[in-house]
Amino acid sequence: METIRGRLSLDLDLTDFYTRLANYNRISLDLGTGDGKFALCHAEAFPSHFVIGVDSCRENLHEYSRAKLPNLLYVIASAQSLPHELSGLVSHVTINFPWGSLLGSLLAGDSRFMHGLASVLSPGASLDIRLNGGALTEQGWSLIDGAECICENLEAAGWRVDNPAVMDSHALRNFPSTWAKRLAFGRDPRALHLTGNLE
Ligand SMILES: C[S@@+](CC[C@H](N)C(=O)[O-])C[C@H]1O[C@@H](n2cnc3c(N)ncnc32)[C@H](O)[C@@H]1O
Repeated sequence: METIRGRLSLDLDLTDFYTRLANYNRISLDLGTGDGKFALCHAEAFPSHFVIGVDSCRENLHEYSRAKLPNLLYVIASAQSLPHELSGLVSHVTINFPWGSLLGSLLAGDSRFMHGLASVLSPGASLDIRLNGGALTEQGWSLIDGAECICENLEAAGWRVDNPAVMDSHALRNFPSTWAKRLAFGRDPRALHLTGNLE
């Protein structure tokens, strides 16, 4: 699979990947990681977790992917076509402030995306999704209706989803991702936090 460090793309084979994962029993996937700041903060805060940030766009990843942490890896891939090397490994998924086709797949309950996601998860995996009002408005949804639609699609795909929790501008300001900060100080600082578990 294609990984990135700074401006350098590296092809990581299965043997090297498994070597890096040895000694970690919890693997977190940050899907649509953007510039990768959240993944870096997570890896720093939880040295016993291995954190994989995935995004389809490499340009934003140049800065944070330089970090040399043993438990952090950035992968260039589309959420709809996740690398087979991840199969069955991931115990926790975060999707923070998705937009574009990532948000579109959640809203459509796209089976390719849902099956691909399920294929990388380990039994009982957990999920955090943070949705923002502006991204949903762009796709023709209100924040509440969009979140409800995504909850239903996740439940249909086998997730047990809790009631969404509101993130206000204070919560967004304190959340360690670049997009959260932008939203907190922007025109539409509304977000909802969904949590769930694979049943
Ligand atoms: C609004 S940004 C959020 C970035 C980051 N999660 C944060 O909180 O700062 C949404 C990200 O989703 C990524 N994205 C959108 N569609 C995607 C897809 N189909 N596969 C992978 N990444 C995708 C974009 O490239 C972008 O980096």
